[in-house]
Amino acid sequence: MPGGKLINYLYFLIITSISIFTISRFFLPNQVINSDELRTQLTKEFFDAERYEDSDSTGIVVEYKITAEPASLTLFGNTPTDVYAYNRTVPGPIIRVRKGDTLKVDFTNNLSESTTIHWHGVRVPNSMDGVPGITQDSIAPGETFTYEFTLKDTGTYWFHPHQNTAEQVERGLYGVLIVEEPLEMTYDNDVVWVLDDWRLTQDNQIDDNFNTMHDLMHDGRWGQIITINSKEAEGISASPGSKVLLRLVNTANGRVFRLDFGSLETTLVGLDGQYTNTPTSAQGVELSPGSRAEVVITIPPLGKSQHTITDTFTNNTYVLGAINVSGEPAEGGSDHYYNNYKVPKWENAHTFPPDKVYNLNARRGGEYGIEWTINDMAYPNYDPLELKYGEFNKIAFVNESARLHPMHLHGQFFKVISRNGKKVDEPYFRDTVLLGPRETVEIGLVPLDKGKWMNHCHILEHAEAGMMTIIEVR
Ligand code: C2O
Ligand code: CU
Repeated sequence: MPGGKLINYLYFLIITSISIFTISRFFLPNQVINSDELRTQLTKEFFDAERYEDSDSTGIVVEYKITAEPASLTLFGNTPTDVYAYNRTVPGPIIRVRKGDTLKVDFTNNLSESTTIHWHGVRVPNSMDGVPGITQDSIAPGETFTYEFTLKDTGTYWFHPHQNTAEQVERGLYGVLIVEEPLEMTYDNDVVWVLDDWRLTQDNQIDDNFNTMHDLMHDGRWGQIITINSKEAEGISASPGSKVLLRLVNTANGRVFRLDFGSLETTLVGLDGQYTNTPTSAQGVELSPGSRAEVVITIPPLGKSQHTITDTFTNNTYVLGAINVSGEPAEGGSDHYYNNYKVPKWENAHTFPPDKVYNLNARRGGEYGIEWTINDMAYPNYDPLELKYGEFNKIAFVNESARLHPMHLHGQFFKVISRNGKKVDEPYFRDTVLLGPRETVEIGLVPLDKGKWMNHCHILEHAEAGMMTIIEVR
């Protein structure tokens, strides 16, 4: 073959193979080229899950009166502590309603500063979400406001102010909202543990230096005393062979808990209020600020015993509480609390780029000397995002800092899709996800409720210093 022809022939080969390669990319079935199609498929998978038949209203209206006011409570030793409290207790009321009930809360602000109530994790109409200046006017001292909504999801939720939040929550403003199945519960014991920590002065007062430079440069305010239901030592009495449903709520401003149940047999049946579709052991479950976990503990069948539950998140292991087993053996309750709801697998959701990337970082400046930013903006400045109602959306959080950020989204629940580029398949939804230093997390969600929803770090000092944005669903 003469030289010229050979070169032509090689040219032909190269061009052909390049074009075959290029064309084939559009037809290869496992190549994600059409993310629109995938999005449609992911949306369908979500709605195919039984979970989304919103329950009918029961027609029952449960009425509550809540006031926020200063109080003096004897919590530690003999010297009373000045707090802010809902209905003069810390934690405030534990409200129990059933799915489909309407909760009507007549709220009165008897503090000397403005406040609101936000219903953390609860799908409420946007106007009931309690964010001053965004979903309602703030409630001035002496004023009242009525919160009213129908509960769409079972689970363990909590409520707290959304104004001067780092201070008001730390001073004691929080309560628990439990939404039960319309069925009867069959647990021998249904126990709520509100986990919090307190930074106290020598004379048992809440240290009133809030949003300090130290707190802002670290993971928010961590107190030296850890409590359950405002008690330094809390115990549960249970009979052998019984089942205890333990509802854990982390109301701390910044502290993360990791729970060690020792040799107890545990089952994690719900996280952030949502059921899991695959109950797993609860050993080591992490609760970042704002998060909840529902754990079923199967008490050993024989004899007297004592078990401790400890926090192992930091190097200082801390005994939180105890379970004391004694008495006649129980018949043993059934487990119908969890309904094995379908949580979509969202198999290929990690294969296409997120619709929005949020970079989380800090810089000098602002009211507190340090600002926590999302896409270089500190709230009230923010990078707006619109999400389409009823469609699969994906958001990435990129932690460019060396601190923790439990990112919380109001009014929606989401599933973690990937961590540091690696696919994740958790068997439950969340409303708060903890990002470790320099970590990247992708979440997927199908927004079901329209309006302007806050998206912020639940380390309340970080949120106060700007780490907050708004997502609009329309
Ligand atoms: Cu418990 Cu805006 O949050
Ligand atoms: Cu943060």
